[in-house]
Amino acid sequence: MAPAITGWKCAVCGASVAIGEPFTWRCPNSTDTDRHHAPQLVQGISPLRSSGEENSFLGFRRYLAVDSFMESIGIADAARAELIVELDSSVAGVDGHGFVATPFERSDELSDALGFGVDGGVWVKDETNNVGGSHKARHLFGILVHLRAAEKVGLAPWSEMSRRPPLAIASCGNAAIAAATLAVAVSWPIRVFVPIAANPAVVSVLRSLNATVVECPRLASDPPGDPCVHRFREAVAGGAIPFSVQGTENAWCHDGGRTIGWEMARHMEEQIGGPPFDRLFVQVGGGAFAASVAAGFRMSGISPRLHAVQTESCAPLARAWERALELGGAKVAPSHWEDCMWPWETVGASAADGILDDETYDWLPVVAALADSNGSPLVVGESLVLQANELGCRTTAIDASHTGTAGLAGLLAIRDQMQPDERVAVIFSGVRR
Ligand SMILES: Cc1ncc(COP(=O)(O)O)c(C=O)c1O
Ligand SMILES: [Zn+2]
Repeated sequence: MAPAITGWKCAVCGASVAIGEPFTWRCPNSTDTDRHHAPQLVQGISPLRSSGEENSFLGFRRYLAVDSFMESIGIADAARAELIVELDSSVAGVDGHGFVATPFERSDELSDALGFGVDGGVWVKDETNNVGGSHKARHLFGILVHLRAAEKVGLAPWSEMSRRPPLAIASCGNAAIAAATLAVAVSWPIRVFVPIAANPAVVSVLRSLNATVVECPRLASDPPGDPCVHRFREAVAGGAIPFSVQGTENAWCHDGGRTIGWEMARHMEEQIGGPPFDRLFVQVGGGAFAASVAAGFRMSGISPRLHAVQTESCAPLARAWERALELGGAKVAPSHWEDCMWPWETVGASAADGILDDETYDWLPVVAALADSNGSPLVVGESLVLQANELGCRTTAIDASHTGTAGLAGLLAIRDQMQPDERVAVIFSGVRR
């Protein structure tokens, strides 16, 4: 039987990569000067069914690209499950627990506070106790499985573990902590490229996880753009592995990210019942999160209206959406990257500092999901960012960051356009630090 996922096809240039090709993190036509490529999984539609295992990487294993990858390189079914179990218990050794489906409940207090009726309401997915304190490790765990599987069957170019190239990531937030947590779990060296003004609390967590933290001042010779990204790309050009949560640097991050959408869709079907969700509010920085949640949901056959939420301080996705509509809609967006998406010129401050990416790298799948679901981007002011965090944390007793509750700010922005019986979902994606 052919693997469920046969490979990748780039939405921009059409290039294909077979699923069994190891270490093909980017489109083959992506270069140092042209990262405008967007590989997408080529996957047959099959009804989404979980095996019931609590760890979604096991429960939904057959839908994961990395499972098809392992199958293609000759790893038998039981051994594939075993490898995931083994890696998950290594992660648990560092983080206290491994991957388990995170809570997803209707918050009666929040629903009441926002005037929803008994048939409607707000369901909150709580990622704050997930591995590394956010949803980010979901994106990276699939990449880790890929690396260990390739090593196991002798596909890795390094001859022994002590010669492993380092992992690399440019981040000073939840993604860096998730990456360092997974790396230390398998004793894989990691270099984390951070700005000079990085949050000292995050840097100290990274150091405690044995990560090599590399501060990245802007160099006189640097081209425009984030110096952390320049140093990260130099490291990757020198052989480091892009352990990144940006699809343009490592498309495989989209694979495991979908577990969150699968969990939500499954919970809705098995535990909630009744009409499906009407809307889904997701905070958007680089865009991998919203792209993965939407892709996961879509596989269940139900796509609630997606609202991609950014702040007024930095809203390149909303701009890209408008430009794409002017040019002919989401379908033509892949051939208009430069006309639609470019770095936000004047990034301001926000308490939701995890979504201030000047570019929405994964904008193409997010724009496609907005169009497919009849959704829209929302741009919220800082007062709603603050209000959402206060209200969301108080009513749910979840200790989420402002970034983590920014989707709720989008809900607040359009609450008066919604009906009291609408069912909506938000994701509190990261813990307060
Ligand atoms: C808690 C949290 N939520 C959401 C996001 C946004 O995810 P993405 O950058 O994939 O859009 C981030 C990114 O840093 C985050 O830390
Ligand atoms: Zn391409």
